[in-house]
Amino acid sequence: MLNFVKQLSHESVVELIGLVSLPKKPLTATSQQVEIHVTKMYCLSRSLPNLPLAVVDAARSEADIEKSVKDGKPAARVLQDTRLNNRPLDLRTPANQALFRIQCHVQIAFREFLLSKGFLEIHTPKLMAGSSEGGSAVFRLDYKGQPACLAQSPQLHKQMAICGDMRRVFEVGPVFRAEDSFTHRHLCEFVGLDVEMEIRMHYSEIMDLVGDLFPFIFTKIEERCPKELESVRRQYPFHSLKFLPQTLRLTFAEGIQMLKEAGEEVDPLGDLNTESEKKLGQLVLEKYKTEFYMLHRYPSAVRPFYTMPCEDDSNYSNSFDVFIRGEEIISGAQRIHDPELLEKRARECGIDVKTISTYIDAFRYGAPPHGGFGAGLERVVMLLCALNNIRKTSLFPRDPKRLAP
Ligand code: 4AD
Repeated sequence: MLNFVKQLSHESVVELIGLVSLPKKPLTATSQQVEIHVTKMYCLSRSLPNLPLAVVDAARSEADIEKSVKDGKPAARVLQDTRLNNRPLDLRTPANQALFRIQCHVQIAFREFLLSKGFLEIHTPKLMAGSSEGGSAVFRLDYKGQPACLAQSPQLHKQMAICGDMRRVFEVGPVFRAEDSFTHRHLCEFVGLDVEMEIRMHYSEIMDLVGDLFPFIFTKIEERCPKELESVRRQYPFHSLKFLPQTLRLTFAEGIQMLKEAGEEVDPLGDLNTESEKKLGQLVLEKYKTEFYMLHRYPSAVRPFYTMPCEDDSNYSNSFDVFIRGEEIISGAQRIHDPELLEKRARECGIDVKTISTYIDAFRYGAPPHGGFGAGLERVVMLLCALNNIRKTSLFPRDPKRLAP
């Protein structure tokens, strides 16, 4: 049997028959918890002898690599591209196994919370005649001779779904962005966590929901995934997210003021760039002791065409972004439900109104005030575990240069 074992290459899949027993040595947290006294062994699938990536190397933490270097036995450092080129092998590391279990639990908690609040889960089409978010980040394709796009979000259809008894809906589904930016937090395909709901009194109802939903998710992950969090931490050390029982809400103007007081140059009617968002995240953490907060009342000019302007000042809008550790994970807003204003805003934003005429027409038959938000699942998990790249939390990432495996 030993000769047979010696011929097996790493990663081969075997079936063992034997007696499971407790090890003779006393158990410790890191020691093997059981032993198998093998009587028979079958190889179900033999791996090639020369692997393009050794899973033991891919599982090494920075601390482990540093220790090996100190001990004079330098360990292999696996580059991200090597990992992603060989993703089926890379996925076998304990940290990766844990990350996708955490991702699954984020979705479970998202669903659980929304279903308990009377939301209905829906599925909107991913093939569309026009773009849903505007801008150039659209994958265009030929739909049997008709120009079409891949959905940049479920935005337009989730709004059209708000009718009759379907007053509150949500969706977990793929979102496509032809992003040109090659950043640590943009993918060309990601999983959108989207919500849309009727507004009864004020659009702050949506922020109330976000303020309860996400802390619920964070708490459930801590409760349900302690082993997984530990596994991720062993390879990528991080501290648990600091968040308040009542989610902090600041206006965009207050955020700008904090940045200005800290000596940053920011445009009060422009968008925050990644550095300003990070800086504001630090300032908020120092002042309010939270790494999860919302900014609302964004300038209209930096929001999509369908965003409702503020009643008292149309330079601002009934919209918000939510941040984890200084990076955006959610954007949300009240939508324009007046078809004339919607058409005007679409034209002003350079959108070909013909391609979204069925969307605009949907509001000509009476539509309740409504709003919602969208989050990116990969980004939520990345920031929850303070990882430095969104590709780590996408099973098979798609970015401007990567379409395989
Ligand atoms: O900010 P975005 O583009 O907003 C929308 O799609 C709106 N329809 C949402 C709404 O209901 N108002 O995207 C929402 C979230 C972002 O906050 C971010 O977490 C994620 O989706 N996201 C991306 N994740 C990965 N790669 C990208 N290229 C992303 N673009 C947005």
